[in-house]
Amino acid sequence: MIIVSNKEIIDQILKLRNISVLRSGVQVLDNISIEVNKGDFVGLVGPNGGGKTSLLLTILGELKPLKGDVMVYGHEPACRHNSGMVGWVPQAASNFSGNIRISVRELINLGTLSKNNFLRRMDDNSRDKVDQAIKMVGLIEMENVDISRLSGGQLQRALIGKALASESNFLLLDEPLVGVDRSSKNSLLKLLDDLCHHHGKTIIMVSHDLSAVTQSTHRIIYLEKSIQFDGPSKELPDLNDLAKIRGITDPHSTHIPTHTTKLKRGDV
Ligand SMILES: Nc1ncnc2c1ncn2[C@@H]1O[C@H](COP(=O)(O)OP(=O)(O)OP(=O)(O)O)[C@@H](O)[C@H]1O
Ligand SMILES: [Mg+2]
Repeated sequence: MIIVSNKEIIDQILKLRNISVLRSGVQVLDNISIEVNKGDFVGLVGPNGGGKTSLLLTILGELKPLKGDVMVYGHEPACRHNSGMVGWVPQAASNFSGNIRISVRELINLGTLSKNNFLRRMDDNSRDKVDQAIKMVGLIEMENVDISRLSGGQLQRALIGKALASESNFLLLDEPLVGVDRSSKNSLLKLLDDLCHHHGKTIIMVSHDLSAVTQSTHRIIYLEKSIQFDGPSKELPDLNDLAKIRGITDPHSTHIPTHTTKLKRGDV
């Protein structure tokens, strides 16, 4: 058992210690240790199949590590203390909108349902939570619009609103920038930054969009089965250095490089 002070429990949202995870008998995460504190906005990047979604599923308690400890708010992930505390927007969540006929408000309201209250009529408390979540994600004017009519960015906002309506203070967002145009992307990133800085939320955001991640988050974790980099976003190594870390040799190594290439969108 890890003994921590009350202050640490409050400020430390996540602690992963030496975790290794297998999926279908294959090791997908190797010896991962991460600590995330209240208010952190962390970018989780890495190549396809690098284990980003598996890591989020481990934090949610959906995947059990073979080795190591996972502590969320000082408890095991599936513990009842953590019920409703962690909001998850899954990868490609925005794809479902074409088949379901519900309004923005109805979608966000789903965030207030739990296995204990789903048969009850909506009370004032739930209504307040939904009102607040709609306001926080900036969709007041769209609240009665069918979600199939939303743009990619608006739908991501609505999905984040659903997570906020459950009063989760720790949000795990798996590729929320996919299908979002440039200007909506900027306002979405601003919203996430605001949630961390002014509303005490803590966010881990998976993305392949390195320029967006570098500009918006203050810490980046580069994951490729194990952690290859964990540090301030501004210190993320450039493409050449990262390739060396990953053990990739330059096929054009006979050429003398004339400049250093910064990582760009689509590089990971
Ligand atoms: N349901 C599953 N059963 C078995 N193995 C899986 C399953 N889902 C993913 N994997 C494997 O786990 C490894 C990590 O996959 P994961 O989806 O976590 O990577 P990722 O970094 O999220 O990739 P992407 O950027 O493509 O979303 C991959 O080798 C993948 O093939
Ligand atoms: Mg993934």
